[in-house]
Amino acid sequence: MQLIDGKQTAAAIKAEIAKEVETLVNSGLRRPCLAAILVGHDGGSETYVANKVKACEVCGFKSILVRYEETVSEEELLQKVKELNEDTGVDGIIVQLPLPKHISEQKVIETIDYHKDVDGFHPINVGRMAIGLPAFVSATPKGIMELFKRYGIATSGKTCVVLGRSNIVGKPMAQLMLQKDKGDSTVIVCHSHTKDIKAFCRQADIIIAALGQPDFVTADMVKPGAVIIDVGTTRVPDATKKKGFRLNGDVKFDEVAPLCSYISPVPGGVGPMTICSLMQNTLLAATHKLYK
Ligand code: GUN
Repeated sequence: MQLIDGKQTAAAIKAEIAKEVETLVNSGLRRPCLAAILVGHDGGSETYVANKVKACEVCGFKSILVRYEETVSEEELLQKVKELNEDTGVDGIIVQLPLPKHISEQKVIETIDYHKDVDGFHPINVGRMAIGLPAFVSATPKGIMELFKRYGIATSGKTCVVLGRSNIVGKPMAQLMLQKDKGDSTVIVCHSHTKDIKAFCRQADIIIAALGQPDFVTADMVKPGAVIIDVGTTRVPDATKKKGFRLNGDVKFDEVAPLCSYISPVPGGVGPMTICSLMQNTLLAATHKLYK
């Protein structure tokens, strides 16, 4: 069994980005700039956004953090997005999700200029990605594809089970694994209404677990030699931790790991790669590599 070290891989990629940025800056380009909007004080969102800002520093990017209270109106938020769209000093825009119930996430996503949509959530990017055109790709699935590449994990012709059908992970993951020049796998997507998930999982050469259900994937669901990617990051109360909780994956690691050829742990697997992909997307936006 080989552990997939997302932390180390992400650090290596960020160092590569930083090097490229210095070359670009030395040749006269201004530093790439990511603008992040955070609404409210959700602990998870605070941490994610702080880590994104930190990653910008490591990569030599500029970052702008715009904060609003929970009570901000949809109109005010949309106005800020439009302002950032027009700002020629801003390359990428993200609005951290989830948003308060009185704000339409879809409206916010569709207001972001798709040229600056480094989260890859805008329907134009989602659609282009789905038909194999250059597009900003959602950070977590992009990070997982990068792990397959860097670890030399073969995906072509393999049976891949994706657990979960969210717009952020499950659906784009399934699309990428399906595409001929990407995963080139046979893809099965399981969700909350799938009958006999175990039977599907047992056939899988690759399982990508993105359900948000701690310890869902157990040893009896895994074919020996399978590749297991754990996207789960549920906060579970844990008195032994300083913060009072731990991040729990969707895979029962201790019993599943001995069966696998490769497995990504939680934490330190997919998580760090997600932020790293966002940095790659921001660099793509700044250098106009996708859209001229
Ligand atoms: N909330 C959970 N994941 C994400 C993400 O990748 N981007 C944004 N903007 N919000 C999120």
